Amino acid sequence: MVRNVAALLAELESEDLYLLSGVEQGMRFSEWVSREKLPDFSGLTPEEVDYRLERCLKRKLIQKKTIQYEGYTLQFEGYDLLALNAFAERDTIAEFGSPLGVGKESDVYEVKSYKPLALKYHREGYTNFREVNRERDYTAENRHVSWMYTARKAAEREYEVIETLYPDVRVPRPIDQNRHAIVMEKMDGVELSRTKLEDEQVVPVLELLLRELTRAYDIGYVHADMSEYNVFVSEAGVTIFDWPQAVPTDHENADEFLRRDLRNLLGYFRRKYPRVVPSCDAETVARAITDGSFDSLATLAADEQ
Ligand SMILES: Nc1ncnc2c1ncn2[C@@H]1O[C@H](COP(=O)(O)OP(=O)(O)O)[C@@H](O)[C@H]1O
Ligand SMILES: [Mg+2]
Repeated sequence: MVRNVAALLAELESEDLYLLSGVEQGMRFSEWVSREKLPDFSGLTPEEVDYRLERCLKRKLIQKKTIQYEGYTLQFEGYDLLALNAFAERDTIAEFGSPLGVGKESDVYEVKSYKPLALKYHREGYTNFREVNRERDYTAENRHVSWMYTARKAAEREYEVIETLYPDVRVPRPIDQNRHAIVMEKMDGVELSRTKLEDEQVVPVLELLLRELTRAYDIGYVHADMSEYNVFVSEAGVTIFDWPQAVPTDHENADEFLRRDLRNLLGYFRRKYPRVVPSCDAETVARAITDGSFDSLATLAADEQ
């Protein structure tokens, strides 16, 4: 897990952030940004650069290497700070809170503005990043830069998808996006995987989810990572989240992903609630969704008789 940098924001000065953003800009061209180029990239004097480098190194926001030339690169923590600062400056975020979840590919925190929100830092590419570090493989130029690129692309992708789907599909309301981070409404409820539904709730919840997936498909997306871990259930209904890998319905594998999503979801319900979930075939549901005829599991079952 990447360290929570929120508390650091208060102790940093704007010049520290200029320096970080200078390193970020230099990383567009190479993995390690030479110290000599930092005055240009950051708009600071060379003396100021030296002073700011020390401060940022001490806080482990950047890393230094001295092989071949003296160079600097951002740590994930430095990148987090740049995103966090952008959100704070445009008043998206007023207060930082506790962790809401740590995924394989993200760190999610509660934040606040006029109401509780969730801040998701994307970490796609993080594992690669760590491996590169461990091997001290400084020659693998592009791999190192790519963690930043991969994580930013994932955030942009997820934001674009939930902006398109909201409010027709029950997804968290999108609020803002910067670099590898998105801010969205904080969901109420608990993960489906941690819920024990009453018998009479089981089929209605499954039907709700299938209708949300149908609506997403009609608007143009397949989730492609559907599971009991990416659904929240509350009194108010269901919310489907975690959309960075969603594919448009005209993608050549879209229907295959849809079938897999349905197999995951139906499989989970059948395993957990074998007595109450009617047997229904993912293929049949998928066909009904893609040809626009899906109405409910009950009608599908009736049709099959
Ligand atoms: N908008 C949100 N409100 C509340 N909790 C959230 C929100 N988004 C994510 N979380 C929590 O963070 C966890 C990880 O988020 P998720 O989007 O699934 O990322 P990952 O790709 O890492 O699985 C979720 O399982 C959930 O518990
Ligand atoms: Mg998830």
